[in-house]
Amino acid sequence: MNNTSESNKPINNLEKIVSLCKRRGFIFQGSEIYGGLGSIWDYGPLGSELKRNIKESWWNKMVLERKDVVGLDSSILMNSEIWKASGHLENFTDPLVECQECNQRWREDQLNGKSCPSCSGVLSEARLFNLMFKTSIGPVEGDSTTIYLRPETAQGIFVNFNNVISTSRKKLPFGIAQIGKAFRNEITTGNFIFRTREFEMMEMEYFVYPGEDEKWHKYWINECLEWYKSIGINSNKLRVRQHDSNEMAHYAKATADIEYDFSWGWGEITGIANRTDFDLKAHSKGSGENLSIFDENTNQHITPYVIEPSIGIDRTIMTLLLDSYREEESINAKGKNETRVFLDFDPVIAPIKIAVLPLSRNESILPLSNKVYDILLKSKIISGAIDFDDSQSIGRRYRRQDEIGTPICVTIDFESLNDHSVTIRDRNTMLQNRVKLIDLELSIDKQLSGNL
Ligand code: GAP
Repeated sequence: MNNTSESNKPINNLEKIVSLCKRRGFIFQGSEIYGGLGSIWDYGPLGSELKRNIKESWWNKMVLERKDVVGLDSSILMNSEIWKASGHLENFTDPLVECQECNQRWREDQLNGKSCPSCSGVLSEARLFNLMFKTSIGPVEGDSTTIYLRPETAQGIFVNFNNVISTSRKKLPFGIAQIGKAFRNEITTGNFIFRTREFEMMEMEYFVYPGEDEKWHKYWINECLEWYKSIGINSNKLRVRQHDSNEMAHYAKATADIEYDFSWGWGEITGIANRTDFDLKAHSKGSGENLSIFDENTNQHITPYVIEPSIGIDRTIMTLLLDSYREEESINAKGKNETRVFLDFDPVIAPIKIAVLPLSRNESILPLSNKVYDILLKSKIISGAIDFDDSQSIGRRYRRQDEIGTPICVTIDFESLNDHSVTIRDRNTMLQNRVKLIDLELSIDKQLSGNL
């Protein structure tokens, strides 16, 4: 399987991050013990927490904290007629060229020259390659049973338009949001989880009055930027790039990408498209169902325009990892210079919020350590995973927590038994603060400025 890289630019911290992700349990190669599968990745214990926090933050901001947006969870497998009507069967393609010498395949629009980047061989004429994965439904294979894995979650929203309106009674403008997997048989993949064949998206279709679409397009570009800032991404490394007319998807009137300045160059992490009434009209025609909304202001049926913010979760994770990776020179407990690595995650998305670390495995401090763990577990100010780790030396445990981005460690020592106090250690400054057990929650809340 062809596995070419997004670009040949220097990769800086990428290799270190790939190694950290495997070593600490964020991301593993899919099917690893069988040699892997091209550009498919599995999320480990920490990766799955990180992903869950990202989804929760987005869902809270885009659905729960708004009156005008509702959620949906539609199926991955859908009737093939949907992909015919939406234009994906015809247009969801990339230009594919094949090397006549080494048989490697490339995306023609991503090549710099006219010959094979691998062996300089002669390339074939380009042909359009559809990126949708095919499978078949039921026990008989054949054209009539061919179905596709969805390449975007959006179509599940459009085909449920009438169902959602009649049950939620929303009026324009309103949105339908969903989070789910999408699949694309990409010709070229690479840069770790940046371009993969199976990935997860957070999408919203926001339906508006025709004529108000451009105003709402700007609004959603801004909302997406604000969300990225709210999860701690450095806004100086984000930019908005408007698509040229020749790069727009078949359904779009205008598209703006939010891009991040990766170590290999600017890369798209979110697309915000003005899809007009293309999809609702296409499915009205394809299905024979009238996908419009009755507008009480004008006493007319309207086919709304739609603005679509579409965020790749895996690319958001890639961004967070690169954006938060820090190396600094420090002196360890033995007085030796060492490079300290930490992930400067915002507490909102950090996979582990707090680590409880008994100084040693000595039985005398275990009951108090368990009590501290219990207090934090039941605390209303902390929502998310809390770690309990009593293995290895305390120095190594701090290093591990730094590397996985845990904002705070709470250490219980022998003195704690007498003074009913514990030590709070801050990830970024490494400053340690002694606090009374009864003030623990308050101190943590203060230290993280209520950001948990
Ligand atoms: N429904 C609109 C849509 O699918 P898109 O720009 O093709 O738009 C939206 O995809 C987002 O999905 C992208 O901004 C990117 O973050 C993510 N994405 C797309 N293809 C991807 C891939 N092969 N691997 C990982 N993420 C991908």
